[in-house]
Amino acid sequence: MRLIYSAFCYKNLENKYVIKGSLDMNQKVTVIGAGNVGATAAQRLAEKELADVVLIDIIEGVPQGKSLDLAEAAPIEKHDAHLVGANHYEVSANSDIVIITAGIPRKPGMSRDDLLATNRGIMKSVVGQVAKYSPNAILIIVSNPLDAMCHVAMEESGFPKNRIIGMAGVLDSARFRAFISMELDVSVENIQALVLGGHGDTMVPLPRFSTVAGVPITELMPPERIDALTVRTRNGGAEIVGLLKTGSAYYAPASAAVEMAESILKDKKKILPCAAFLEGEYGISGLFVGVPVKLGKNGIEQVITLKLTADEQKALEKSAAAVKELVDAMKKMA
Ligand code: LAC
Repeated sequence: MRLIYSAFCYKNLENKYVIKGSLDMNQKVTVIGAGNVGATAAQRLAEKELADVVLIDIIEGVPQGKSLDLAEAAPIEKHDAHLVGANHYEVSANSDIVIITAGIPRKPGMSRDDLLATNRGIMKSVVGQVAKYSPNAILIIVSNPLDAMCHVAMEESGFPKNRIIGMAGVLDSARFRAFISMELDVSVENIQALVLGGHGDTMVPLPRFSTVAGVPITELMPPERIDALTVRTRNGGAEIVGLLKTGSAYYAPASAAVEMAESILKDKKKILPCAAFLEGEYGISGLFVGVPVKLGKNGIEQVITLKLTADEQKALEKSAAAVKELVDAMKKMA
């Protein structure tokens, strides 16, 4: 068994970081940010044996400690994924995927948009390093405000649009699915749901495309119950922030990012709602907005365009306008 953890990562005489052993055997995913979302994503990636995992954070000891702790759980969880933690990016070199969770989370009463200036600064410095060491990586962005952070990532990395993907729709749809399951007392496995738009108050849950064993929920629930569940979905992140009080959700966000990574690593070509850079699809141009995409080894391999009703289209455009407001606000920042 080859387990690699922080003890095997050292600086050589030329002051270069060296990893003893090899991380080359498997695919490699780097997770930036060893907070709750990042550490949980690292855990799920390793436990599903999807890739070797590099966990990076600026706080000394934390990524090393968490990855060592996860490596020590491996004999019990029965996986051979290699885990390494670091405060520098050299160890992350040539990652296949980089999941970026770095940034501050919301506190009660804050909107995701309140994080814009701080997380923009963090995102800029992180993406610069990521692009330097992993020029061919596919980026999965998790930091908030999500859609705006995707813009920062695209600008700083210069990567093509298929390699920058925002995690939001999978999370928002999972919340909608969970609420539908609670309402109808039916297995979550029977439930598909679709939430499009920006990852904010204007997101667009689509009941027509949300089904239980193939049957649209519009045939299974009265409109007022559907409305209640869509409102709860829109406020899903704030509901958890209100309960935790010290931070935001992490189990479901980590699961969502890892489902996206899995589809890419295994070239599964799953159709998942993700923030993608649109150039005319859905009548939207030059913005990251949540839409269904096909995720495979090349990242976003296709944007799936659905025929929306006039009301659905209007809601999507309103959501895109909210994303544009943030992008415009960033243009005015130094
Ligand atoms: C949420 C955060 C991760 O929706 O945006 O919980």
